[in-house]
Amino acid sequence: MPVRSWFATQIYCEPLQRAGLDRLNRGLVDECHRIRDYDAAGRRWSARNYPGGYTSYASLNTLHRFSSTFGELEKKLLRHARVYARSLDLDLRGRAIALSDCWVNIMPPHTAHSLHLHPLSIISGTYYVATPPGCAGLKFEDPRLDRFMAAPPKRPDARPGHRTHVTYPAVAGNVVLFESWLRHEVAPNPATAERISISFNFSWS
Ligand code: NI
Repeated sequence: MPVRSWFATQIYCEPLQRAGLDRLNRGLVDECHRIRDYDAAGRRWSARNYPGGYTSYASLNTLHRFSSTFGELEKKLLRHARVYARSLDLDLRGRAIALSDCWVNIMPPHTAHSLHLHPLSIISGTYYVATPPGCAGLKFEDPRLDRFMAAPPKRPDARPGHRTHVTYPAVAGNVVLFESWLRHEVAPNPATAERISISFNFSWS
């Protein structure tokens, strides 16, 4: 073929661990609810910035430093992030990637999270704790979209790697990792129950 693919965008998706996910997630659901109940500042921030839902993004965003449960989660996430960093051929120059931020997101029915990226970090991601049937996935946007200008749209049957958006279904127990500059969003949660996730950033320090 005279045409080859270059500058491809890499997205990582794997179960956090091989066994024990149900038990781990039951404990995390309880802990996420306790954090929401305790975090009055976060509830106030969420009322203004995360309508209908709760996020500790602006209030309790270093949970791995204060909670042993989240400290354990940090160790597991780090293993995945190292694999992903290697797959990206990152030259860390002897430095290490480290979890810098870690926060909880609770999305009742209809709560959405509009298009955004994660500044000041290199790898970001989400771990899914509770994903009721039919809940919204994580939708990524082609990072070149704002440069397409006069380009025609893609055909409905375009090959997956050629499409302008891809949605990863939210699956409890899965870790999704992406490079922090990649824009993404969560559509309004159409499920009848809470969708709970833990989001995080890795820095290079
Ligand atoms: Ni995000």
